Amino acid sequence: MTADLTTRYLGLELRSPVVASAGPLTGRLDTLARLEDSGVAAVVLPSLFEEELVGEALRVHESLERGANASAEASSYFPDADFAELGPERHVRLVERAKERLGVPVIASVNATAPGSWPRYARLMAEAGADAIELNLYAVPADPSRAAAKVEERYLDAVRQVRAAVSVPLAVKLSPFFTSMGHFARAAVAAGADGLVLFNRFYQPDLDLDTLQARPTVELSQSWELRLPLRWIAILRGRLPDTSLAATSGVHNGEDAVKALLVGADVVMMTSALIRNGPSHVMVVEAQLRGWLDDRGYDSVWQLRGSACQSASADPTGFERANYIRSLASVM
Ligand SMILES: Cc1cc2nc3c(=O)[nH]c(=O)nc-3n(C[C@H](O)[C@H](O)[C@H](O)COP(=O)(O)O)c2cc1C
Repeated sequence: MTADLTTRYLGLELRSPVVASAGPLTGRLDTLARLEDSGVAAVVLPSLFEEELVGEALRVHESLERGANASAEASSYFPDADFAELGPERHVRLVERAKERLGVPVIASVNATAPGSWPRYARLMAEAGADAIELNLYAVPADPSRAAAKVEERYLDAVRQVRAAVSVPLAVKLSPFFTSMGHFARAAVAAGADGLVLFNRFYQPDLDLDTLQARPTVELSQSWELRLPLRWIAILRGRLPDTSLAATSGVHNGEDAVKALLVGADVVMMTSALIRNGPSHVMVVEAQLRGWLDDRGYDSVWQLRGSACQSASADPTGFERANYIRSLASVM
C-alpha cells in the first residue's frame, strides 16, 4: 500500500500537495494541460498586476482622447483600441479557458498593495470559475515618509476589499519583508485570508554598466531558498491552526516538499523547478515524495503534516534563534 497523498488547501480537496505557482507555465493553456497530465494538484495563474490596470486606464483614456480631439499625428501612435483585448480581460478569459480545459482547481491571482479597482477583477475571475483567489502583495514601499504601519494598513485594506468582493476562498501571498511577520500574518487572516502563501521572491534589479540604468533580472531559485519559508511556516503553523499554508520559494524536489509538509505546509508550490525541468517535473517530485513516505512507513501526508513544526518540536527555540555564533563556528 502506498501513502495517501491527498491534502486540503483553502477548503479544496487536492489529489496531492504539489501545486504549480504563478509563472510562465501557468499562463498558457498548453503548458497548463501538460501540468495536469503530469499530476499537478492545482494551478495558480499569473497575477493581474496593478501596472496592467494602470495600462488599461491609460489606453482607455488615450482612445477616448483620440476620438474627441487628438491630432491625426498623435492618433497614429495608438493602434485601434480593442476593449476586449485589454490586459485584465485576458486574465479573466484565461481563467475561463483553464476551467474549461482542466479538472484540477484553478486559482486566479491579483497583485495589489492598496485599495483600488482590482477587487472588481477578482470578482470577474471568480465569476469566470476560479476556485480561489490569490492576492499577491508584491510591492517595494520606497517612500521614506510612509511608516511600516501605514504600508501594512493599506495592504490589509486591499485584503478586506478583495474578501468583500468574492465568496470563493482567498489566499494572500506575502513577501518576507515584514518586521513582525507573525503579527502581519495574523492580521491578514483577521482581514479575511483563508490561507497564506510564504514567500514571494523579489527580483532584485542589477545595474547595467553601459546604460547606467537598473536592469531587471530574473534568476530561478535554488533549494536553499526554501529555508526562509520553512522557518516561518514552522513558526506560524501552531499559531494559525485553521489557516491554510503554502510553501513557495525553493521547492525543487521531493525532499524539499517533505520538509515543507513536516513544518506544517498544506501544499508546496513550484515555479523555478518547472521552468528548469518542464511540466513533467511534477511527476518526479510526486514520486520522490511518495517514495520518502513509503520508505519511512507513513500512511499519508496528513500524518506528516506539521509533525515537525515549532510547537511540536523538542526544541521550539531552534526556529527562532538566530544561531549566529553556532552558524559562524561551523564555517571556521
Ligand atoms: C518568470 C516568473 C514569473 C512569475 N510570475 C508571478 C506572478 O505573476 N504572480 C506571482 O504571485 N508570482 C509570480 N512568480 C513567483 C512564483 O510564483 C514563485 O512564488 C517564486 O518564483 C518562488 O518559487 P520558486 O522557487 O518555485 O520559483 C513568478 C516567478 C517567475 C520566475
